[in-house]
Amino acid sequence: MRAEKYKPYFTEEYLMGPNSIRLIDELLSAYPLHLNKESKVLDLGCGTGLTSFFIAAETSATVYANDLWIAAKDNSDRFKSWNVEGSVIPFQQDANELHFDISTFDAILSVDAYHYFAAKEGFFCGKILPFLKGGGMALFAVPGVKEEYEGRQNDVLQAWVGEDAHMFHSCSWWKHIIGEHADIAFVETWELHCFAAAWEEWLKIDSQYADEDRAFFESVIRKYSNFVGIAVKRR
Ligand SMILES: C[S@@+](CC[C@H](N)C(=O)[O-])C[C@H]1O[C@@H](n2cnc3c(N)ncnc32)[C@H](O)[C@@H]1O
Repeated sequence: MRAEKYKPYFTEEYLMGPNSIRLIDELLSAYPLHLNKESKVLDLGCGTGLTSFFIAAETSATVYANDLWIAAKDNSDRFKSWNVEGSVIPFQQDANELHFDISTFDAILSVDAYHYFAAKEGFFCGKILPFLKGGGMALFAVPGVKEEYEGRQNDVLQAWVGEDAHMFHSCSWWKHIIGEHADIAFVETWELHCFAAAWEEWLKIDSQYADEDRAFFESVIRKYSNFVGIAVKRR
């Protein structure tokens, strides 16, 4: 796995949850992208930009690293320290109102972020699809649930994630919510295999957030949750 090369970055400073490198590596292994130095990739909700770094290092594309909570200046400093400032460009835009030209991106990738803003009908076709070039691919990894629990996500997950429980959905729910459009060639959703590795590497981290997750790992996280992969191909 390519993820092994990035072990020095599996630290409190860069990880914001279950290991994002495992998740992006699995997305790109399931749907290899044939990118070149003319290609542009949007990393949506990139956090500290670790996945953007991975995409730049593993492909020759230019990566637009966009996040809401992390200032572009902080990511810019990090990209310089990682020697990728020429190929990873930081942005701070809300995914609800992106200001890129339409049909800019060969690929739009998102790890552990899409569920915060896009778990609603019509969002993908209205707010994301226009920015993908014809033939482009969107690949997302979101924390989800193994089944829909018939709307009882709150009962099952609330002790762990509180009011965020409503963001957790199953593979079939995500496939439905992406929706249909004349410009979409296919939508696939599946359960990612890297769940155990991604969680194990996060739970080793010495941080308050990892401590909180550790308390619920056996009783809630491993029992009910998963990671959902979402792949959408534009015609
Ligand atoms: C759990 S962090 C994950 C960050 C990173 N992708 C990773 O896996 O380490 C979720 C990220 O989603 C971003 N986010 C949440 N709402 C957003 C929005 N409306 N627009 C853009 N990014 C958003 C946050 O800024 C945050 O960095």
